[in-house]
Order: sequence, then C-alpha cells, then structure tokens
Amino acid sequence: MNQRIPISKVKPGMILSMDVINHNGSILLKKGVMLTDKTIQILFNKYSISEVVVKYEHNGEAKNNNHKMEIIGANPQRYTNIINQLNHLDSTGLLDMIKNDAIKVGKMMLETNFIQHTKKVESIFFQAIDRTEILELLLKFRVISENGREHFNRYIKTSLLATAIGINLNLSNSELVLLARAALLYDIGNCLVDQNLLNSDYVLPKNEKKKLNEHVIIGFQILQEKFPKEISLPAYQHHERFDGSGYPNGLKNNDLHLFSRIIAVVDVYTALSYARPHRPAYPTSEIIELLLGSGDILFDYKIISEFLEVINIYAEGSLVLLNNGDVGIVTEIKGKPIGKPVVKLIYDKKWRSLHGKEIDLSTNNLYFIKKVID
Ligand SMILES: [Fe+2]
Repeated sequence: MNQRIPISKVKPGMILSMDVINHNGSILLKKGVMLTDKTIQILFNKYSISEVVVKYEHNGEAKNNNHKMEIIGANPQRYTNIINQLNHLDSTGLLDMIKNDAIKVGKMMLETNFIQHTKKVESIFFQAIDRTEILELLLKFRVISENGREHFNRYIKTSLLATAIGINLNLSNSELVLLARAALLYDIGNCLVDQNLLNSDYVLPKNEKKKLNEHVIIGFQILQEKFPKEISLPAYQHHERFDGSGYPNGLKNNDLHLFSRIIAVVDVYTALSYARPHRPAYPTSEIIELLLGSGDILFDYKIISEFLEVINIYAEGSLVLLNNGDVGIVTEIKGKPIGKPVVKLIYDKKWRSLHGKEIDLSTNNLYFIKKVID
C-alpha cells in the first residue's frame, strides 16, 4: 500500500506512510499525517521536497481495489466471521429491505425532529440512498454493529440534519447528495472496532481510547476505495476540532473539509441525544448550550449557528419549567430568537393552577425556560 511518488503527483487527502525529513535531518511532517493543499505547497516551495511516501489515496485512484476491511479489537475473528456470513446472504432482498427501512425511518424523523426544509431534505435523502454501494455499507453497518438498529437510526438523523445545514449554506443539489451520503457513512469504522469498547459503561483508559479512535482510519479506508473525497474525508476528520485539539492529526478548522465541519457538529448533537450505558440522553436544550459554549473553540461557530436555524430546541407539547418556577407546555415554536417559544402556563411553583395563560418568551425578557420536564 505504500508508494513513493513525486511531489507533483501528490494530492490533498493522501496520508504519509513515512516521516518527511528535510536536508538537515529534521522531521517536517510525521508519518500518518494527511496532506493538504497547504502542506504540499510548503513541502515543495519552502523545503524543495521532491518526493514523499504515501499510504492511501482518497480519490478513487488507489491501485489496490481489492482492499479488505482491516479489523482491530479484542476479537477480530468475530468480525471476519460476520463479514463472511454477510457475503453469503441474498443481498438483493436485503438491500430492498434496508432501503425501505431507511425510507421509513427517514420519513418518521422528518416528521418528529423539527427540521426545516423538510421537503428538500427528504428529496436529497432519497437520492442519497438510491445507490447500491451506499445500501450495502448501511446493511453491513446495521448487521455487524451491536445496537445496529440504534446506530442506523442515528446516522439517518445525522444525514437529515447535515443536509438541512447544507441547504442553509446554499450547497448545490449534487453537493447535498454527497453530504447526505457522507453523513450516513462517516462513522462506519465503528462497526469494526471492539464493540465492548464502543458500548463501555466506564471512562476508557488511554490505550483503549486509542483503539476506539482508530475507527476514523478504518472508516476512511473503507470509504476511500469506493467514493470521492467528499464522502471519505469526513470519516477521517469528524473528530478533528476547530482549535486543533481533535484527532487523528490535530488539524485546525481551515484545514478541514466543509462536510467534516458540518458532520462534526451534528455528530456531537446526535451522540448526546441518545442514551449511553453510562449516562442518560441529554435534553436538546443542554446540547445546544454545550455547542454554543464551544463555538470557535471545538466547532466552527458559523456551522453551529446554521444548525440552530434548522432545528427547534423545544418540541410543541414539551412540558417545561420556567425560571420563576412556573410549569407550562410549549404551544408554538418561534424560529428566532432561538429557544423562545410560546408557553401555555399550567401550574405555578406551589402547583396552583394558572388557567392556561399564554406567555410569548420571544417578547418577554423576564422569563426563560430553565429545563424540559421529562
Ligand atoms: Fe466517530
């Protein structure tokens, strides 16, 4: 898989399989780093590097098209067996099944997840799943993963939300289909890491966390053989962070693909909105607070603000506690300001009836929602 190539043929997205050393013997770039336009230019113009050794190509031109999924984790034999079993299944019937299931889940989520641009998101989603390679990977992901149904639903949700952000950013139809596909498959590497680590109910020690983090490399390996960089790069970059504190390469915001930045925000939102073995699901309002608090630190603030445009924090019918202790029910969602719906008051803090008096939080600065009552 390693290939020594002249710098003129190096493309962004390729990964170094050997350190790049300058004429004094100092390391310029370490093995494992993904090359960007900027780093390629610097290597060539500033350090006159004439060739590098790279491991992967992301653009579908890789020579090894018979690439096999790499398997890591405590019990690799288990994954090998499952993949072998999958190869013997009647995929035609299963692909129809997975497609129908994706359509059903997608429609249900569009009805219940308060997404703007509903019709267009639905149209893009249907185009995104209308491809055999996409369905095959969704099927594998669904079957191999423990909690496969939950993961399947979560990535459909991620795809729909990412697409809605893309519409807000005025992406073209073809770009939106790529984004929707990238957001369906970006975490596919998770199905081949140790499922015990993935579903652990404790904080992982460093060495186990490192194993889990490898899902970004595995996912990228799987996707870069079949799809363009718009789909494979987010698998590699969705845990990178705005300030360079993420993994695998500590790349900063401007070095990340737009789709990676969009998917990073939605990934955190959907991850926290599902319960894990060691914690309950976060209420939407708390996730939004977390995201806003990490704008331009962990995530691109522009993407967060577009995200907040396409979802509503409170669902109609949610029971909420106000800052003065009153309890009410959300009766009308206002787009802006964010998180300021109309609330019909039911009880005060001493449980005395408030007779359904309505209060519009978008125009009343004295009151705000403290939390949603489950
Ligand atoms: Fe991930």
